Amino acid sequence: MTSPGAPQSRRTFVGKLAAGALATGAMPTVLSAAARRDVFTLASHRYQSANDQIQLAVIGAGGMGMADVNTALRVPGVKLVAVADCYDGRLERAKELHGADVSTTRDYREILARDDIDAVIVGTPDHWHQKISIDALRAGKAVYCEKPMVHKIGQGADLIRAQNESGKTFQVGSQGMSSLGNEKAKALLEDGAIGELNYAEGFWARNDPIGAWQYAIPEDESEKTVDWDMFLGDAPKRPYDPLRIFRWRNYRDYGTGVSGDLFVHLFSSLHFVTSSKGPRKVMAQGGLRYWKDGREVPDILLGMFDYAESDAHPPFNLSLRVNLVDGTSGTTFLRLVGSEGAMDVTWTEVVLRRNKAVSPTDVFLQMKSDEMDDALEARKQMLPPAESVYVAEDGYMGAHFDHFMSFFRSVREGTPVAEDAVFGLRAAAPALACNESYFDEKVVEWDPETMKVL
Ligand SMILES: NC(=O)c1ccc[n+]([C@@H]2O[C@H](COP(=O)([O-])OP(=O)(O)OC[C@H]3O[C@@H](n4cnc5c(N)ncnc54)[C@H](O)[C@@H]3O)[C@@H](O)[C@H]2O)c1
Repeated sequence: MTSPGAPQSRRTFVGKLAAGALATGAMPTVLSAAARRDVFTLASHRYQSANDQIQLAVIGAGGMGMADVNTALRVPGVKLVAVADCYDGRLERAKELHGADVSTTRDYREILARDDIDAVIVGTPDHWHQKISIDALRAGKAVYCEKPMVHKIGQGADLIRAQNESGKTFQVGSQGMSSLGNEKAKALLEDGAIGELNYAEGFWARNDPIGAWQYAIPEDESEKTVDWDMFLGDAPKRPYDPLRIFRWRNYRDYGTGVSGDLFVHLFSSLHFVTSSKGPRKVMAQGGLRYWKDGREVPDILLGMFDYAESDAHPPFNLSLRVNLVDGTSGTTFLRLVGSEGAMDVTWTEVVLRRNKAVSPTDVFLQMKSDEMDDALEARKQMLPPAESVYVAEDGYMGAHFDHFMSFFRSVREGTPVAEDAVFGLRAAAPALACNESYFDEKVVEWDPETMKVL
């Protein structure tokens, strides 16, 4: 990591940018700032196919669990052999999609007891992540656990211990951090492309019922087709309520609100790009403005986070926002701002703008300069590109695939994963602390080194 304010950093970056432009045959022409836009292609990783087969199971075969399975099966040498879910409709659907010889069960412990299963995906609601992951690691399975890694911050330490004691691969499913876009942003930041980082911001905006978690309730739902006790687990006992299982995100006993659902992705990416361990102060405000369907969590949430200086980065501030009632629509965004520019980062693209590359637009400064009639006109300068755009090359398999490659490579070769339990907790904790801050109306102090709430 370049040390904060290192004098070489920007020169290093500009030199590399020029070399990159030559290598890709880009021909930037100095016309206007708008025209000075260079576009570069980010090359995908090249993967080798494997000879040995990994036997995979999924626990929690809903929307994301099955999306994970589909992506995992694109990795050579992976076979789905078993599925666990507490709703029969999911088990039937898994057989329809993946063949009658895939075995199914309502009880995930049957999967963990089998010797022929190497790895499991945990795609259950959040309140089950920690328990099933620990049980699976102790049973000798590699685990790909969906985000957020835990339902409560205090559950993190036991899962980190289980990962370390088992020696098994454990990866958290914030796939964006394995993307070409995040990798490029990290390299650009380290090369000094935006100068010294001082601020970052991110948001998720949605405006439709599905985006706001109003999922369809299956017609055949009943206490016969749902194993209600298996859904509840350690959550408080209640009579059967289909809304609670099929729209679990709305309830605090099972979900983690918009911050656990969405901020956590932004934390994972930001921490990857900046090599940060996390903020030391967390503050959140928000409200339930529109989706008054009995949910217990806000549909608008704003978070403010203070990142102290560390070996990896200068001190900076972060602002995050989720709006499930955003009339401007469905988009997401992560921006890093530094003393010399800013980067908009997605999983497939980085747009870099540098303020040294454009003429000042400050009206006051212009007036003052016009007033100085004896001022000599300064010599015009050569300007670098105002905007550089890095885009993934055609055929890029995507962040989700890259994240699974990292997982299965670790299972086969013992290499480190992109997002282990320590990284996973450091991404989840500030997101979960937002709930604490919002509901208890307080500032939460978090020690990202020791991973403890102060
Ligand atoms: N990485 C991503 O981009 C991403 C995207 C969406 C969801 N997720 C995460 O994936 C997880 C699942 O979300 P979803 O949208 O797929 O929810 P979902 O409701 O569609 O799926 C959850 C499934 O788990 C099952 N289940 C509940 N308790 C169980 C238990 N004890 N044993 C076995 N099965 C159980 C449910 O019946 C359901 O089929 C969540 O933690 C969510 O945060 C991640």
